[in-house]
Amino acid sequence: MASGHTATREKHGRELRVWDLPTRLFHWALVAAVAVAILSAEFGVLAVHMLAGETVLILVLFRMVWGVVGSQTARFADFVKGPRAIRDYLKRSRAGGEAAFTLGHNPLGALMVVTLLLMLLVQAGSGLFTSDDILIDGPLVPLASGATVALLSSLHRLLANGIFVLIGLHVAAVFFHLLVRKDNLIRPMVTGRKILPARLSAAEPRRAPAALALAILAASAGLVFLVLRAAG
Ligand code: HEM
Ligand code: HEM
Repeated sequence: MASGHTATREKHGRELRVWDLPTRLFHWALVAAVAVAILSAEFGVLAVHMLAGETVLILVLFRMVWGVVGSQTARFADFVKGPRAIRDYLKRSRAGGEAAFTLGHNPLGALMVVTLLLMLLVQAGSGLFTSDDILIDGPLVPLASGATVALLSSLHRLLANGIFVLIGLHVAAVFFHLLVRKDNLIRPMVTGRKILPARLSAAEPRRAPAALALAILAASAGLVFLVLRAAG
C-alpha cells in the first residue's frame, strides 16, 4: 500500500529538481546581504553597510555568469522571453493550475529577476563611488572626480528607493502566487523540487557542476577584491 506521501505525489505527479543548489544558496545569501545592507544604512553603520554591499556585488556578478553557463533553469536564455510569451503566460495563468505551470521562472517573473539583478548591480557599483560628504567614502571615491562622486552618490540614494519598491513587489508577487493561485514558489527555492502536474511531462532540467559554481564565485570575489585593492 502506498504511504500518504507517495499517494499524494502520485495524485499530483512527479517531483522534479528544478533549482540547483548554487541558485538557491545565491538567492538566500542575496536576501541576507541586501537586508543587512539596507538595515545598516538605516542605522548609519556604514562599515557594515559597505561590506554587505560588496557581498551583494560579488553575488550578483556570480549570478550573471551562472545565468550564462549554469544549470538549465538558471540560464537567462531559458527564462527571458519576449512580450508575446509574457502575454501568452498571462492568459494561461488566468486559467490557473497546470496551464500556468513553468519549470523555472515564468516569463513575467523573469522580468522581475533581470530588473532586480541589474538594479542591484548598479546600486552596489555606485556605492563604491558614494560619499556621505562628511566621514565615509566608498572605496573607489579617491579614483573619481568630485562631480562623478556627487552624481553617483545621488544615484545611490535615489536607486535605493527603487530597490525597496522592487523588493516589495517581488515579495508581494510570491505571496500572491501562494495565497491566491495556491502555488507555493518558496518551497522549491528552499528544497530545489517542484511537483510536476500529473498530466504534464517534462524531463528533469540539466544541472551544471557545483564545482563550476564555486570557481565562478571565487573569480567574482577575486575580481571585486582586486578592484577594491586598486584604490589602495
Ligand atoms: C532582499 C530581498 C530579496 C531579493 C533581492 C530577492 C531577489 C530574487 C532574485 C534575484 C530571484 C531570482 C533567483 C535566481 O534565478 O537566481 C528571486 C527569486 C525568488 N525569490 Fe526572491 N528576493 C528577495 C526576497 C525574497 C523573499 C523574502 C522571498 C520569500 C518570501 C523570496 C522568494 C523568492 C522565490 C520563491 C523566487 C523564485 C520565483 C520563481 O519561482 O520564479 N524572495 N528573488
Ligand atoms: C545593493 C547594495 C546596496 C544597497 C541596497 C545600498 C543602500 C543604501 C541606502 C538605502 C543608503 C542610505 C541612503 C540615504 O541616506 O538616503 C546607502 C548609503 C550609502 N551607501 Fe549603500 N547600498 C548598497 C551598496 C553599497 C556599497 C557596495 C557601498 C560601498 C562599498 C555603499 C556605500 C554607501 C555609502 C558610503 C552611503 C552613505 C551615503 C550618505 O549617507 O549620503 N553602498 N546605501
